[in-house]
Amino acid sequence: MDNKAENALENSRQLEYIEKTKELIANKKKALGRELTFHVTTFGCQMNARDSEKLSGILKAIGFIEIPDEDKADFVIFNTCTVRDNANQRVYGRLGTLKAQKKKNKEMKIALCGCMMQEETVIEKIKSSYSYVNLIFGTHNIFKFAELIYTMYESDRMVIDIWKDTDKIVEDLPVDRKYPFKSGVNIMFGCNNFCTYCIVPYVRGRERSREPKEIINEIEKLSKDGVKEVMLLGQNVNSYGKGLDNGISFPELLKEIEKIEGIERIRFMTSHPKDLSDELIDVMKNSKKICRHLHLPLQSGSTRILKAMNRHYTKDSYLALAEKIRREIPDIAITTDIIVGFPGETKEDIDETIDVINKVKYDGAFTFVYSKRTGTPAASMENQVTEEFVKEHFDRVLNTVQERAKDRAVLKTNSIEDVLIEEINDHDATMVTGRLSNNLCVHVKGTEELIGKIVTVKLTECNGFYYMGEIVD
Ligand code: 5AD
Ligand code: SF4
Repeated sequence: MDNKAENALENSRQLEYIEKTKELIANKKKALGRELTFHVTTFGCQMNARDSEKLSGILKAIGFIEIPDEDKADFVIFNTCTVRDNANQRVYGRLGTLKAQKKKNKEMKIALCGCMMQEETVIEKIKSSYSYVNLIFGTHNIFKFAELIYTMYESDRMVIDIWKDTDKIVEDLPVDRKYPFKSGVNIMFGCNNFCTYCIVPYVRGRERSREPKEIINEIEKLSKDGVKEVMLLGQNVNSYGKGLDNGISFPELLKEIEKIEGIERIRFMTSHPKDLSDELIDVMKNSKKICRHLHLPLQSGSTRILKAMNRHYTKDSYLALAEKIRREIPDIAITTDIIVGFPGETKEDIDETIDVINKVKYDGAFTFVYSKRTGTPAASMENQVTEEFVKEHFDRVLNTVQERAKDRAVLKTNSIEDVLIEEINDHDATMVTGRLSNNLCVHVKGTEELIGKIVTVKLTECNGFYYMGEIVD
């Protein structure tokens, strides 16, 4: 059987499990005389956010009801991240708190999944210190969720199912989208880049691209279902298509997606600078649908550190690329990721990073403190930097990033922009919040009916990282 047929078979197997588990849950509810509830907590990136929509989709399909309070739920699941250690620590903390709750609610089941679970040391720790966890699975077999829930209810021991890797892509299962009008779409999984600080290739496996036809079908379906904006997800979207028999490149995929009626905005992340082609710049430049935003992780501005990070570009080649992008697409927002405190980093290296920030003038950036991840090459480098070093330099980087982002944002004050309204404003219920093509937020007067609509807005005031605006027609 070829891979495609195997995936289809697995898909129908899981649909059968959904039915079987639904019956099991219905019987449980009858016996208890009440509904069963769930809560999903997501840590980490957009990929995990998308995976959590799949978890919710299955839980709803088998008869659970979502509630906002984790402590009160009958099924609690943490979709974990292990890119930096602080996310791991938060999971352990939350697990500790849940222990007492589990004693109060005999029905409570606790499940863990995601990147952290792909690490053997984590599994050992959970087995020894958190033995009240009921179900553990990893990143490669999330499609088995219904089956795993079934197994968990049939078993009175901790169910653990972790795969080292997979070539299976099973995507046609229920998904519970957080927003009706926008959706993430996985176009590839895993990563082959092995940046020396990063654990992702070890926990997400080798790079695998989805067939273009399947991506297009999924987006066509989403569009029919009211989705206007898609975010194409992959660790390195610029190498999309490699390894497929009749593969197309990422820019070609974008052109195909652009043809889909009803889709008005296309975003993607993440782009590795080493693989960003002129063809991509060209397709973005000539597109009405691809958003004016490019996330282009820098990590460090020092060529010496970039080499030690195994990033395959230099300060100068990155600057040349950013300049070309700004030249070709002047209204584009460029955002980035920066790590402070990589082994061996000196004040001079940080100065180089700051120099790049000032030259590229990022529209936004995530600045991370380097976190030592066991098993990565950087973890065993001898010249780890001190906390004092990080304390001294992190704020310098952060402040520069914020200053440049403000400079950029203010340029758009008084301009008129298309805005996709996403939600009621957190602080003021008479206002709604939407996003510009460049990904910045704007708050305007308005009500729920506007959610999911693209409106024309005048940006009347810039408050650094967001705008206040007025709808114009
Ligand atoms: N420490 C700190 N930041 C990291 N990232 C990846 N690995 C680490 C690490 N060990 C950051 C990178 C990447 C982003 C998703 O997370 O900047 O682009
Ligand atoms: Fe990690 Fe580098 Fe792959 Fe990004 S490209 S996921 S930083 S290894």
